[in-house]
Amino acid sequence: MAVTSRTRVGIVGAGPAGLLLAHLLALHGIESVVVENRSREYCEARQRAGLLEAGTVELLRGVGLGKRLDAEGMEHGGIYLQFDGQRHHLDFRSLTDGRWVTIYAQTEIVKDMIAARLAAGAVIEFSASDVAVSDVTSDRPVLSYRDASGVAHEVSCDVIAGCDGFHGICRPLVPNLSVYERAYPYAWLGILADAAPSTDELIYSRHRDGFALYSMRSPEVSRLYLQVAPDEPVADWPDDRIWAELQKRFAVDGWSVSEGTITDKSVTAMRSFVAVPMRHGRLFLAGDAAHIVPPTGAKGLNLAFSDVIVLAGALRAALLDGSWELAGAYSDMCLDRVWRATHFSWWMTSMLHVAPGQDPFESQLQLAQLRYVTSSRAAAKSLAENYCGYKPLSLQAPA
Ligand code: FAD
Ligand code: DHB
Repeated sequence: MAVTSRTRVGIVGAGPAGLLLAHLLALHGIESVVVENRSREYCEARQRAGLLEAGTVELLRGVGLGKRLDAEGMEHGGIYLQFDGQRHHLDFRSLTDGRWVTIYAQTEIVKDMIAARLAAGAVIEFSASDVAVSDVTSDRPVLSYRDASGVAHEVSCDVIAGCDGFHGICRPLVPNLSVYERAYPYAWLGILADAAPSTDELIYSRHRDGFALYSMRSPEVSRLYLQVAPDEPVADWPDDRIWAELQKRFAVDGWSVSEGTITDKSVTAMRSFVAVPMRHGRLFLAGDAAHIVPPTGAKGLNLAFSDVIVLAGALRAALLDGSWELAGAYSDMCLDRVWRATHFSWWMTSMLHVAPGQDPFESQLQLAQLRYVTSSRAAAKSLAENYCGYKPLSLQAPA
């Protein structure tokens, strides 16, 4: 027999979306349970995003999650775009009304949110198995799982939030889903290295042998990415080969990538994916469970958080005031921002990567576009506005 219990919101997934939702709901006085199939250690170590829009930073500060972010985050007022061996700076502050972005790793945000939930006495069921959701068209959907010690649980909820990422179990529960997708013929090899970054801001480099991105995690740690083949085995990339390729793709006279010990290496596929609608009955999808963007625009985590802000507001209205109007508008409200970010991410990706067998016409178009965004103020302004976060998030403060 399963242990039965009751909560208001059952949340599947302790990634950024699920953890932030639990945090915002708690601020509204709404109880939730988070069920995650990985261990706490795994969730806290999973290397992914690093770049936060200013709106995301302000959101985290506004809900009491800004302490370490403010101490350790690195504010950047622009990026470099490199092509044809030349590096060009885009100054976001002067191109926009003073906007900026912050480098603060997703691993750290996840650690901060887990610590905040546990300090508040909340339950996060890590290392759960047999996670399932049922009865989503009734007003008592059920979240069931086996906890880390093997005990079966059934939690009766008002609402279920599917925050379980691209490979989760929630999206397949939405019938008649329309899916829009694009696979790209390349992947990113990402590394983390104990090396002081030799750049003050991120460098996006288009090289004829492929794209490279220079990011960072701290004044001592660099985060770098290389465009590789989609099914590239990590084993084909010993450290020496990685550094040689990075030096080549970022080469400019009198400058080099600073090298150090590589502490993490992984390959990520690139895809665009949007599933519509993001709600079915009492099941709401948020973040990567509903949409994926290729990482070139640095939008995935920021989008996941904007979904969650809208969802937390909608659930507050539904569960505390009995008004389901915002819940009804949830999918459309999110998709407006999702499609803008999907376009921007596709555009950045297409401009900077070199497809296998790419013809010279395509290459000339990419270079023409790069020359345009680095010489026309209007074009640079559009890139800056999208990169920093089109339509900045506005937090509906908990009452
Ligand atoms: P996830 O992080 O995928 O979390 C889902 C959670 O659900 C996971 O913990 C998973 O273990 C759990 N789960 C899955 N299935 C189940 C199940 N059956 N039961 C219970 N739990 C389950 N975004 C940015 O904004 N800026 C960036 O700079 C950026 N850079 C990136 C770089 C790389 C290399 C990659 C890969 C991504 C990057 N992103 C970036 C995207 C960002 O990392 C994701 O969009 C973000 O993780 C989405 O959060 P999420 O909570 O929706 O999903
Ligand atoms: C990072 C990742 C991105 O995809 C990006 O566009 C910028 C920065 C990062 O991991 O720091």
